Amino acid sequence: MPDESDRLLDQDATAEDADSELSLRPQTLAQYIGQRQVKQQLEVYIQAAKMREESLDHVLLYGPPGLGKTTLALVIANELGVHVRTTSGPAIEKPGDLAALLNELEAGDVLFIDEIHRLPKVVEEMLYSAMEDFFIDIVVGQGADVHPIHFPLPPFTLIGATTRAGALSAPLRDRFGITAHMAYYNTDELSQIVRRSAQIFQLRIAADGVHEIALRSRGTPRIANRLLKRIRDFADVAGVQEVGADLVDEALTALQVDRKGLDATDRKILRLMVEQYHGGPVGLNTIAANIGEESTTIEEVYEPYLLQVGFIQRTPKGRTVTRAGYAHLGVPYPNNQG
Ligand SMILES: Nc1ncnc2c1ncn2[C@@H]1O[C@H](COP(=O)(O)OP(=O)(O)OP(=O)(O)O)[C@@H](O)[C@H]1O
Ligand SMILES: [Mg+2]
Repeated sequence: MPDESDRLLDQDATAEDADSELSLRPQTLAQYIGQRQVKQQLEVYIQAAKMREESLDHVLLYGPPGLGKTTLALVIANELGVHVRTTSGPAIEKPGDLAALLNELEAGDVLFIDEIHRLPKVVEEMLYSAMEDFFIDIVVGQGADVHPIHFPLPPFTLIGATTRAGALSAPLRDRFGITAHMAYYNTDELSQIVRRSAQIFQLRIAADGVHEIALRSRGTPRIANRLLKRIRDFADVAGVQEVGADLVDEALTALQVDRKGLDATDRKILRLMVEQYHGGPVGLNTIAANIGEESTTIEEVYEPYLLQVGFIQRTPKGRTVTRAGYAHLGVPYPNNQG
């Protein structure tokens, strides 16, 4: 049986998510909970673009998985009242694929490219002129007859999403007029998301149950929704009318999600650092090799949350476990450290 807690953290949306995400996804900025700063910025830019009847400047959304980048891209297109075409970096294999996508855009439309850091170099280079001056040059012909054709495009908005802003080349990054960093959600925001989703699921849940899920969702809406679904299963099987904190605790403990929202892998990382490396400093690759995960996964999925809750720290020599991290494991903090 696959480890449930790992699946809860799966980077990619599962088939089950895909079904329910359709109904759980907010449609408008007003329905979109949290990310206040990002929303405030966008509201102004969207309104200005509509007043001037221009396309919105290109938008780059970056942050850990499951924080609502795809959702926000769809909301932006909806607020602009334009069509959106959705694709991803790895899906655009050659310049011709990009040309075909661009060819279908109408003035003002949104092209959403998920995982934009994984675009092939030749495609990325074609995107430069498309973004900056709304044209592409396509090379046609053979042998001595090879020549470029200049192909004008309607003004459009590119929305790029990435979990790794650092993996984007400078020329690409510079062509986005609007850059938005997606932050982890606070407990209050997650509570709102859980309440909204429970309503959509027609699940009765008490305030203390909502709060408990919010606390244990790793600051991530996708995880909050996944936990809620598993809890609904527990509630149905137990014949419970209203979900309370007790049932949430029982269900999440069974899923190995602890009181701080850490899953089995998070704890494995902390324990490794404490037990084998005296709390660090430990390099990312060493952690990855010991845990059996890619170092990019550690860096993009696990580390950001462990940093966020203050259980580890980044130092020039590597990662170290903090006093709070030791306390969470119930291990005494060594005297010779800080
Ligand atoms: N601000 C929000 N308000 C309400 N629900 C949200 C919000 N953000 C995300 N969600 C919910 O969380 C789920 C995951 O969001 P989404 O797929 O947009 O994340 P993502 O950042 O694109 O993740 P990934 O990096 O894995 O592509 C969505 O189905 C949506 O229901
Ligand atoms: Mg996404």
